[in-house]
Amino acid sequence: MQSEGIDSSKLEEIEKTATSKINTAPDNESLEEVRIGFLGRKGILTLALRSIGKLPPAQRPAIGNQINAIKQRINTLIEFRKNEIADGGGDEEPYPGDPSLPGRSCWEGGPHVLHKVLREIKAIFYGMGYSLAEGPEVELDYYNFEALNFPPEHPSRDTQDTFYVNRDILLRTQTSPVQVRYMEKHKPPLRIISPGRVYRNETPDPSHAAEFLQMEGLYVDKNVSLADLRNDVTYFVHALFGSNARVRFRPHFFPFTEPSAEVDMTCFACKGEGCPICQKTGWIEIMGAGMVHPNVFKYAGYAPDSVTGFAFGMGIDRIAMLKYGIDDIRRLLNNDIRFLSQFWNGPVSEVQD
Ligand code: PHE
Repeated sequence: MQSEGIDSSKLEEIEKTATSKINTAPDNESLEEVRIGFLGRKGILTLALRSIGKLPPAQRPAIGNQINAIKQRINTLIEFRKNEIADGGGDEEPYPGDPSLPGRSCWEGGPHVLHKVLREIKAIFYGMGYSLAEGPEVELDYYNFEALNFPPEHPSRDTQDTFYVNRDILLRTQTSPVQVRYMEKHKPPLRIISPGRVYRNETPDPSHAAEFLQMEGLYVDKNVSLADLRNDVTYFVHALFGSNARVRFRPHFFPFTEPSAEVDMTCFACKGEGCPICQKTGWIEIMGAGMVHPNVFKYAGYAPDSVTGFAFGMGIDRIAMLKYGIDDIRRLLNNDIRFLSQFWNGPVSEVQD
């Protein structure tokens, strides 16, 4: 095409031709040819722009603007066509079916059962004055073990089979490291919960998974007692499982609490009568707990004589299983929609995460 004597109507013609070539380009190669033909170094529009100098000065700005606008529109069209080609050409036959048929209904999702239970649990603790704290899943050995009073090389570390990244870094085996991290940054009194994912090198079976959710609780102030711990834990169990559920503390050992306990509640299935689920004991363990060990206060930079506190750590998966009668922890991670969709009905707490 001659670029001499370019004018507005010639440019409109050029745009029309380009548009139709782009819209009918069958593939990316032909689209590229069209692009080069119009916008390339020797493309029609490039030459047109260069020839502007031959026009009378008064016409130059208008023509220049028109050319640039066309170039832009062509670029947009090319992008659009590229997407159409990627989507299968954009030249499908018109829909051959009966347009009066009702549409297919689409799936409405819902919260994961773990998320739902966690929201309920959080709502209960927020109501008791706890606030939320969070910590990293990839954690330092220091926070996961050492500052929690697990001495180096001590056999107590073996109770939590650990995925190590290297000697100093690991995937946290518990949410307890958040205790120390939080106390380092905040002065007492404090009252926090800290839910999150934890990892253990376990062989998966119906009651063990290599990753699961825990929720830590920590309350530090002056004169906090074991009775306060018992009170908050019992209130929580009643709020979640109903006031008929009973709670008992069994002496236990954790390096970071003294005294320590494991907390059981009456079995949800047999209501304490004894059945296969609770191994005929009538009780099911739901958390570890105890009074914060003075050494943990020391690691966190507190003067151990001036404060007392309690901590607890519960397995969220475990609690979801108890609440909904789920028989295998692995179901919670399998993402089988037939399983998960059972929990989508019913009220979901409005509490924010
Ligand atoms: N972190 C402990 C565990 O994972 C539970 C725990 C938390 C115990 C807080 C006492 C206090 O087993």
